Amino acid sequence: MRAFERLLQPGFIGTVRTRNRIVKPGAAMLYWHEDETSLNPRVRAFYEAIVKGGVGLVIVEAPIVDYPLGGRWRRRYRIDDDRYVDGLRELVDLIHSYDCPAFMQMNHDGPWQTQPWGDPEPLVKERPIASYPVSVSSENDFHNELPRQLEEPEIEAIIEKFARAAERARMAGFDGVDINAASSHLLHNFLSPFWNRRRDAYGGDLKGRARFLLGIVHEIRRRLGREFPICVTLNGFESGRLLGIPDEECLKFEEAVEIAKMLEGAGVDAIQVRTQWIGYHVAGFFPEAIFYPELPFYPTAFPYPYDFRRRGSFAHLSVASAIKKVVSIPVIAVGKIDPETAENALRKGAVDFVSMNRALIADPDLPKKLASGEKTRIRPCTHCHTCLDPAPVKRCRVNGAVGLDEPYEVRPVLRRKRVVVLGGGPAGMEAARVAAARGHDVVLYERWRVLGGSMLLASLIKGSGIEELEGFLGYLKRELRIAGVKVVLGVEATPPVVARLSPDELIIAAGGVPHLPEVKGIRMPHVVDTARLLTNLMRYLGLFGPKLLRVLSRYLLPFGERVIVLGGDKKGCQLSEFLVKAGRKVAIVETEQEIGSGMFPHLRLALLDFFRRKGVEVLTGVREVEIVNGGVATLDGQGRRFLYAQHVIPVPKWKSQKELRQTFLSTAGEVYVIGDCLEPREIVDAISEGHRLARTI
Ligand SMILES: Cc1cc2nc3c(=O)[nH]c(=O)nc-3n(C[C@H](O)[C@H](O)[C@H](O)COP(=O)(O)O)c2cc1C
Ligand code: SF4
Repeated sequence: MRAFERLLQPGFIGTVRTRNRIVKPGAAMLYWHEDETSLNPRVRAFYEAIVKGGVGLVIVEAPIVDYPLGGRWRRRYRIDDDRYVDGLRELVDLIHSYDCPAFMQMNHDGPWQTQPWGDPEPLVKERPIASYPVSVSSENDFHNELPRQLEEPEIEAIIEKFARAAERARMAGFDGVDINAASSHLLHNFLSPFWNRRRDAYGGDLKGRARFLLGIVHEIRRRLGREFPICVTLNGFESGRLLGIPDEECLKFEEAVEIAKMLEGAGVDAIQVRTQWIGYHVAGFFPEAIFYPELPFYPTAFPYPYDFRRRGSFAHLSVASAIKKVVSIPVIAVGKIDPETAENALRKGAVDFVSMNRALIADPDLPKKLASGEKTRIRPCTHCHTCLDPAPVKRCRVNGAVGLDEPYEVRPVLRRKRVVVLGGGPAGMEAARVAAARGHDVVLYERWRVLGGSMLLASLIKGSGIEELEGFLGYLKRELRIAGVKVVLGVEATPPVVARLSPDELIIAAGGVPHLPEVKGIRMPHVVDTARLLTNLMRYLGLFGPKLLRVLSRYLLPFGERVIVLGGDKKGCQLSEFLVKAGRKVAIVETEQEIGSGMFPHLRLALLDFFRRKGVEVLTGVREVEIVNGGVATLDGQGRRFLYAQHVIPVPKWKSQKELRQTFLSTAGEVYVIGDCLEPREIVDAISEGHRLARTI
């Protein structure tokens, strides 16, 4: 059998033929605005890249079915009126022009609090709506507001709205719909006994709780006939154990199985399976989230049939395959599934299709690359969760094109230029890769004997359990080679060196420079000179690589048992996590009122919880810090404290080196400064800057 033969085999969902078994599931990129009635260039560019890459089926992110109560973000399209049909038709025509079918997802955010994650412009001002007034206080979920109970006529009106939206989907040319009854949206809210405590026709036993969802399915079937495929995205179970809620009170796997059978009986054509974790919204669709920074419970305590191996890669797959055993319609697995796992599952008949969301955001050409035997050229998703960032325009940490409002593919250059890149970190490598892929003659200088820059350090500190930065680094190195970039390691290119090459374009991506913060006592012997340490680490990283060095650091870490970390921003918190995992007793001292600034909200909360469990002492709002013999003395609103430790680690501040532009100005036709060298930020900024600059030169 050929590699990935099953994954690349055509399939059917109802009457719709797919060219392979890879589905792009519905995912809100939020590139739209509620006022739009036509396709905007950013949405076009995103979906065009996805379909061009050869995916089998695209499920377009849900437009708002019931405006405004059914939505939470203004950056979604609408489908509650016929005037929105034309805009969607433009998108469907585009998808069809690449020989790919398109489904439209439909959901209802009714029970969610009015401001889920700091949207600056809340869409809904009134109380959320739900099966029953139940709220759960958890900063990591969307149910902190007590919703209002829907009356029966209101439920029937929402059924009508879903059915009208499906009709409009067909008018727009969609080949089918995906009804999202997963996550903790309104339809799941009715299915779950934890949320739905009604005693009328829409509550009580499973039949009553499923009446709403089945009502929608029946109504769509009645209006659009047997030929129009309906997929339902379903939670294979719901667990409350993260908050101490007994799983028996939630939607159990056995009930999900019964719902799946009911859906099949009602004429549903496919079921996509996820899970739901009360109190932790993200864990329901990113199965690795629950493993960060460590499992909150013993692995065998996962509800049946959740498979905890490979930190989430088998989790939803195992639940989906258990559901497949009881239905004969296609079952789609989704959640951190890589091509090999997918192929194995398909060969075993465990599932029929596999949805890949982030893998396709990271590299829309994944299906094509699998088909042409270029698997090693796939740009891997690092599972960093950057795409969940509620930033005005979503980006991807590894795919610098995501978020552009022009076609993603890079265009060949008309005139081949000589491009010199200084710096082999993320910004420099990405700029070199794209410039060379376009046809430029590119030389990259890196002063260390190893490529990677800040990614090596990040990989060392964060490990590769959840985030897989090393895979991405490997991809960049391979692509530099394939694109013909000449890489010169261990040489710090000076202006005369660059001038001799007389480049048309010089890209300076030499990274930021670490500086110790100004704290009294910073030169004392028990203070770790982190600026120097980072320099030494780069040497060792070149020798051993991040993975081995991380293992070695457990035994060779030159710090005592008690350590104080000065600085509790994202970097300070991640360093503290590393130290705790290396067996140190850690205290964090921060002048701001909170620690973890710069982290994504859900990861920050998970890390704070980990710190609490591990007894990390956290001092925030500290007005004055002084490093003294034996530790650190702090002054906050309440008084002076002395913290004892063998070592104090100040989190270095990073400074730009943008003055290098002036230094090199006369050496090239054009000189650019990008990445941390311009302004120290995140890897996603470095990649997108490198990518976007190289597209234009
Ligand atoms: C930015 C983003 C937005 C998402 N929005 C939705 C959504 O609107 N509806 C939905 O069913 N799933 C949504 N998801 C979840 C994805 O469909 C998918 O289940 C998840 O990314 C896990 O699959 P993966 O590991 O292949 O990425 C979203 C995921 C991301 C990253
Ligand atoms: S690399 Fe990060 S931002 Fe990109 S798709 Fe994966 S998780 Fe999302």
